[in-house]
Amino acid sequence: MLDFRGLIRLLEQRGELYRISRPVDPEFEIAAVMEQIDHQRRAFLFENVIGARFPVIGGLLNRIECFGWALGSTPGEPFDANDLDARFEAAKQNLIAPREVPTAPVKEVVRRGEQIDLPDLPVPTFFELDSGPFITAACGISRNPDTGLLNVGVYRSVILGRNTLAVNASSLSDLRKFYKHAEQRGESMPLALAIGVEPALQMAAACKLPPDQSELDLAGGLQGKPVDLVKCETSDLLVPANAEMIIELKVSFTDNIDNNLGEFAGQYGLERAPVAEVTAITHRKDAMFYSILAGRNPEHNTLGSIATFSIRRALIGALRSQLTGIIDIDVFLEPRMGAMAHIVMSIRKQNDAEPMALIEAAFKAAGGFFPVSRITKRIIVVDEDVNVHDLGDVEWAMYTRTARADKYRVIPDVKSWELERCAKGDRGSLRLAIDATKDIEDREDMVRPVIPGARNVKLADYLQKKP
Ligand SMILES: Cc1cc2nc3c(=O)[nH]c(=O)nc-3n(C[C@H](O)[C@H](O)[C@H](O)COP(=O)(O)O)c2cc1C
Repeated sequence: MLDFRGLIRLLEQRGELYRISRPVDPEFEIAAVMEQIDHQRRAFLFENVIGARFPVIGGLLNRIECFGWALGSTPGEPFDANDLDARFEAAKQNLIAPREVPTAPVKEVVRRGEQIDLPDLPVPTFFELDSGPFITAACGISRNPDTGLLNVGVYRSVILGRNTLAVNASSLSDLRKFYKHAEQRGESMPLALAIGVEPALQMAAACKLPPDQSELDLAGGLQGKPVDLVKCETSDLLVPANAEMIIELKVSFTDNIDNNLGEFAGQYGLERAPVAEVTAITHRKDAMFYSILAGRNPEHNTLGSIATFSIRRALIGALRSQLTGIIDIDVFLEPRMGAMAHIVMSIRKQNDAEPMALIEAAFKAAGGFFPVSRITKRIIVVDEDVNVHDLGDVEWAMYTRTARADKYRVIPDVKSWELERCAKGDRGSLRLAIDATKDIEDREDMVRPVIPGARNVKLADYLQKKP
């Protein structure tokens, strides 16, 4: 199991980390270089950021393989999304609670009052129309007012001034609920941003858990040992003792700020967030500032897949339990197709009306975190001989089995979640329903060409040399 610095060391030993000593401007220049390195799936350390007192580190988790290394898999051995999923499922069965420690590396330097100076941090401004510099890799720690549990999520924060910033909480997040709870009571609430934490916690923070579970317990389960926590200087929150840096905040709800940032699905996203005051910054003496390139880029999208994976799993579970007749199902929730889900289901239909009826029922179903219609752009139904997990095969069916015009339907004005940026306010946006099954009358004719016995052939048997 690797901690934050352990993962950096491994990447450097493998020659996969670029150290950049040339001075770089945090406004756009860092992002421009990050983009090239992130797309090469390499890590970076900007040692000399103009005007800042810390280096910028990143590109640490821009492929699933790196998640595996952080969780103890041996470099060279394959580790894919299914392995990561299995590790998460195992960790959920073996949660390990965090433990409080009295002292911590992250307390080596404590800054309060006039010593707080956010512009001192090397926070990049990424895109042309971003509202300002954004902290993108921080794990935000808050307390669930109902359960008392510590809650962790990855939230992006825009720097507003010497000691103010705003932490964005989406409508899906638990943090948004905690904001509402405090605001309705006219109270302020403490929040802490932990930058550069153990990779297991970074992954757990991105995972969408039910509100009665803590991401800290999941992180413990993932890394096989408790996360060490230490008390904040200015609140009763506990924060990761081994982090590179902690920014302690008091969120008041007197002032909200609109802010714009290029986001994971390849569009700008306007958010509104309460202004928070920095009450303390604590950090290691030689702290590194972890930054993830925002937008539709590898590290953001790879970590983000942990967040969307939970939504995807909830959608599949909900549809399987609410609908009958599904043989196989997949949900594609991938930045290459925007921020909305695409659902594919296969069935063995008895009549031609069945696929559209199933799609209508699916759009009306509850989807776990959201109603299905809110987050799903397109539902396609295919026959059982089409592989629902292969969008290429699904597209083949969409264009080879659709003669009647009513097999494609456009449903207007459906309410979307906020991340569908083209939606028109309350009018929402369109949905697509596609029946890509063969018509019953074509059943005998439109048969896929299959070579008899092909499935049982082992090529190696034919390539062995004669003795
Ligand atoms: C790099 C990255 C950036 C993210 N930015 C945000 C954000 O700004 N706001 C947000 O609500 N969720 C963001 N997410 C998703 C949340 O971290 C995720 O949904 C998490 O489960 C929310 O935690 P919560 O529901 O416990 O509050 C981001 C995820 C990643 C990986």
